[in-house]
Amino acid sequence: MRYLVTSALPYANGPIHLGHIAGAYLPADIYVRSLRNNKREVLYICGTDEHGVPITINAEQNGKTPTQVVAENHKIIEDAFRRLEMSFDIFSGTSTCPDHAKLSQDFFLTLQKNGFISERDVDQFYCDHDAMFLPDRYVEGVCPHCGKGARGDQCDYCGNALNSLDLKEPKCKICSKTPVVKSSRHWFLDLDKFQKDLDIWLKGKPHWKANVKAFCEQWFQRGLEPRGITRDISWGVPVPIDGATGKVLYVWFDAPIGYISFTIELFRKLGRTEDWKKWWQGGKDVKLVHFIGKDNIVFHAIIWPAMLMGQKADWKLPDEIPANEFLNLEGDKFSTSKNYAIWVHEFLNDFSADSIRYYLAQIAPEAKDADFSLKGFQTANNSELADIYGNFVNRVLSFTRKFFDGTLGGEVTFTDAETQLWVEAKKEADTIKECYDTYKVRDAVFHLMELGRIANKYVDTSAPWSLRKTDEKRCKAVLLTCLNLIDTLATAFEPITPEASRKVKKMLNMPETFDFDTLCTQPMKPGHTIGEPVVLYPKIEDAAIAVWRDKLGLKS
Ligand code: MF3
Ligand code: ZN
Repeated sequence: MRYLVTSALPYANGPIHLGHIAGAYLPADIYVRSLRNNKREVLYICGTDEHGVPITINAEQNGKTPTQVVAENHKIIEDAFRRLEMSFDIFSGTSTCPDHAKLSQDFFLTLQKNGFISERDVDQFYCDHDAMFLPDRYVEGVCPHCGKGARGDQCDYCGNALNSLDLKEPKCKICSKTPVVKSSRHWFLDLDKFQKDLDIWLKGKPHWKANVKAFCEQWFQRGLEPRGITRDISWGVPVPIDGATGKVLYVWFDAPIGYISFTIELFRKLGRTEDWKKWWQGGKDVKLVHFIGKDNIVFHAIIWPAMLMGQKADWKLPDEIPANEFLNLEGDKFSTSKNYAIWVHEFLNDFSADSIRYYLAQIAPEAKDADFSLKGFQTANNSELADIYGNFVNRVLSFTRKFFDGTLGGEVTFTDAETQLWVEAKKEADTIKECYDTYKVRDAVFHLMELGRIANKYVDTSAPWSLRKTDEKRCKAVLLTCLNLIDTLATAFEPITPEASRKVKKMLNMPETFDFDTLCTQPMKPGHTIGEPVVLYPKIEDAAIAVWRDKLGLKS
């Protein structure tokens, strides 16, 4: 089995915040790293989603071109991901990937050839002053449902999706003048023609998460309808039809195709131009896993599979869609417009990627919305990573250096205590692997700490510091066992805290590899010499947390 894993393509319309990371990115990266540690063949694909109206509006408002906006944000996002140690095989972008536009157009044309695309004229708002149609957010007005201010595509207050023509008091977003209504030709994906096949396909996924299944069933009950897949703007993939000048494919049509075009780009760069097909047309040998946030369910579980089915070729359909719920921040929603958010690139200036990854994994919004709290973050770092894991590593390594010069040579005597310990440790290690395989990162964190507690208990009960004077062979056996526990901890922790794991391997003087088959196998034998210990997790001071609470306008 080979694994093709994707994370939702983030919009290149602004930086990325911790809420995004918790849903579609960190859980995917943890899964991918654990697959690699199990020696599976894996591809992890991502990049920015670079088309769409929010990007052109952002450009106009800031006197930039869409290309500039996209380039700037792509860089910020890519840097943040790199510093957070997201281990993509490729991080491309839908407007820069050389294979993307052509593939998106081919998708459209094949759907059309196979009879899944209809076209008709639709009334649209048009601004005479700016001489352009006003799709989606280009028009603002009053929500017909709740009476509050809303954008053409949706109302942020009541959450309703809107048809822009229903907006009351419509205004052009650019010049604020009242638009007129004009007719314009558009193309639609006939989703209704896929309902039966989609329904059958989804029935074959009884193990999928309840949120995904419930969502799709709701859509089926209401009945699938044709969906507009073109827009009257100039930024995007041109509609590949004569007479469609000035029209582009809707961003949600081209974006998921990025998963494929980025794979094509990757293999071309590797000089293996045809190999992408082994993944996207690899049949049952490949498991396609899309990590997303819950707001993306309909696109990945209904529209995207329909687009793939409609190609009438051997494309992979999604095998798994682990959709996560949302992360809140100190009890409130993350809000970009109110700047109530923790931006990843800023937070990383103050805290380590590992501490952030650990806490986000611990509170991952798997089954319900979760809350990020700065004090919770501090506690996770100080009382768990530092006190349980870091402290164990430090005690054992310092002791070994101080009294044995870093080498536990000569004879050592193991007893039942060790046999017992490894049985317990192995049980935890097996559970941890199982959690990784089943996207349960919260449980993985819990059992990793259990393993840390088992290690601490063992060293406390065995008390090597007293044995040193009474029974040196026993003392060395205990220390060697602790070193091997540390090695197991480092390997098991790697998907969540990769940097610390590399540091630990270095301190142990072991190769920087994280093969899960080595868990609990005691690879360090008598005579092994360790390296120099360093502090693994410094404590996070109250002052550092206060700075961030201040930034968010929270009372200290
Ligand atoms: N840009 C979208 C979002 O952030 C996700 C796009 S996922 C893709 O919600 F599949 F369409 F690429
Ligand atoms: Zn206007």
